[in-house]
Amino acid sequence: MKNIMTAPFMVEMIRTATNMYAHGWDERNGGNISMLLDEAELKEYLAIPAIVRTIPTGFTAPELDGKYFLVTGTGKYFKNVQYDPAKNLGIVRLAENGTEAEVLWGFSDGGKFTSEFPAHMKSHIARMKTDPENRVVMHCHPSNLLAMTYVHELDEKAFTRTLWQMCTECIIVFPDGVNVLPWMLCGTNEIGEATAEKMKTARLVVWAQHGIYGAGRDLDETFGLIETAEKAAEIYMKIAHLPRVNTITDEQMHLLEERFGVKAREGYLD
Ligand code: 13P
Ligand code: ZN
Repeated sequence: MKNIMTAPFMVEMIRTATNMYAHGWDERNGGNISMLLDEAELKEYLAIPAIVRTIPTGFTAPELDGKYFLVTGTGKYFKNVQYDPAKNLGIVRLAENGTEAEVLWGFSDGGKFTSEFPAHMKSHIARMKTDPENRVVMHCHPSNLLAMTYVHELDEKAFTRTLWQMCTECIIVFPDGVNVLPWMLCGTNEIGEATAEKMKTARLVVWAQHGIYGAGRDLDETFGLIETAEKAAEIYMKIAHLPRVNTITDEQMHLLEERFGVKAREGYLD
């Protein structure tokens, strides 16, 4: 059995959580990450099935039965993931129609998965249907995206178009745009279901006055999505109160579509 601390998925998870904290996206215990693991790869590092304990999930998700996830713990600080991964992270396998999470590794102080587990698991289900290679769901609290939800209308088309206009690369990185949820109580099945519904049509979902969700094939891609949207929001917050003299026009966006082989969300460009 290989040392699980050397597993690429573990190394990348620790690096990503550390980097997210360094970006100021995850104050205190803010934010959470879940990553779908490959059983064959996991077996190189863990005796399966060796169930340490079982935790009820509080929801039903038959699609996820037998699936393994590396996930951040609730109340745990991203700042500390690198110093004690086994306490701040856990590996679970979903069972019994997704109503139970079998802990196979981690959560060593008796902790459990993030309070946003419903949003993560339901988003995985939604994204897998659109892209079978989707493995990562990431949530965090980037300052500029959050700030933007206080001063910009929350209409998804308007919000997306504003972000696209802030940096040339935006439409290339997230041509599917950004979906937006109004303020809702976090940590509930309801916000989980609403997030998953929004994940059907975009890989980025803003939670107004709270943060953002991203989904992607790996940690780098998902981090990069949020990083790009947050950069655009930063530009917006720098210029929103100033007279706008120039912008990226829809005509120019069409040039970007052609040059980079992407297709903007239907109906979002003139
Ligand atoms: P957890 O500590 O339960 O992951 O919650 C953090 C958070 O960002 C809630 O939205
Ligand atoms: Zn949050």
